[in-house]
Amino acid sequence: QPISILPVPFDWGASRRGAASGPQALLGAGLERRLQLLGHQTKIRPDSYLPDFTSDCRTSPRMKQWGSVLAMCEAVSREIALLASGGTFPLAIGGDHSISIGTIAGLAQQKRKLGVIWIDAHADVNTPESSPSGNIHGMALAAGLGLGDPRFTTIGSAAPKLQAERIALVGTRQLDEGEKRLIRKLGVACFTMHDIDKFGMARIMEQAIAVVSSGSDGVHVSFDIDSVDPGEAPGTGTPVRGGLNFREAHLAMELLYEAGVVTSADIVEVNPLLDNGHQTVRLAVELIGSLLGARIL
Ligand code: ARG
Ligand code: MN
Ligand code: MN
Ligand code: MN
Repeated sequence: QPISILPVPFDWGASRRGAASGPQALLGAGLERRLQLLGHQTKIRPDSYLPDFTSDCRTSPRMKQWGSVLAMCEAVSREIALLASGGTFPLAIGGDHSISIGTIAGLAQQKRKLGVIWIDAHADVNTPESSPSGNIHGMALAAGLGLGDPRFTTIGSAAPKLQAERIALVGTRQLDEGEKRLIRKLGVACFTMHDIDKFGMARIMEQAIAVVSSGSDGVHVSFDIDSVDPGEAPGTGTPVRGGLNFREAHLAMELLYEAGVVTSADIVEVNPLLDNGHQTVRLAVELIGSLLGARIL
């Protein structure tokens, strides 16, 4: 199955600039070649699909830069829906995590029972009311669940796009109070760093994969690079210490590949401006490789 790479050079969903250079950095570090060496056919979508939002200053304290974020998500949703219906494996490369509002909206046009594995230090289930920052990248998964501003929850199709029972959070270690309440209320499977420390990544991924694949018509992997420990992945806007180590991150991706259930993915929050050389960029490329079939032997 060919892989369609969708670059989303966008960072108005975050408070720090720089993630918009993620796609160029990942491609410059040989992402496409890496996938080709694994035997995949690849195609890169030129980013002319994105509108020019540089002069869009619609914003509010509870939803910063919402005009630009909305325009981006609508464009990403259209593209992802097109790529998915063309039978390719959509791989969106961000960009901050708000791009996943668009990818999930696009995927949901075909898949009404999409499972989502959200590998992230954060849960990104804030609403404009619960968010302490007003940054929309912290509201991305909530939008998929139909929570928040209707302009965002209804992109491409009616809300909600996702069901709480088919979502698994992995690597969680920083939650706002409203997010904790919501996760408990909805019963979203949340595999925190505590759980990973206690039981090991292999057992946790087994459980997470069961959650997202049972009764689902596809599985989307949303990989926020800040899930990885900042010592290993410093190039990201909202680092949180105590994250996944190098092998835990790779193992998670390798086990997802082995499970054979993944139908789409996005990689987000790589910020080359904050990187230590190319450490984080290179790690991100390697991790996508592991998700798409790279093996040690
Ligand atoms: N929970 C915090 C907020 O809502 C941080 C979110 C960070 N999200 C991310 N995709 N890096 O602002
Ligand atoms: Mn995130
Ligand atoms: Mn995060
Ligand atoms: Mn960020």
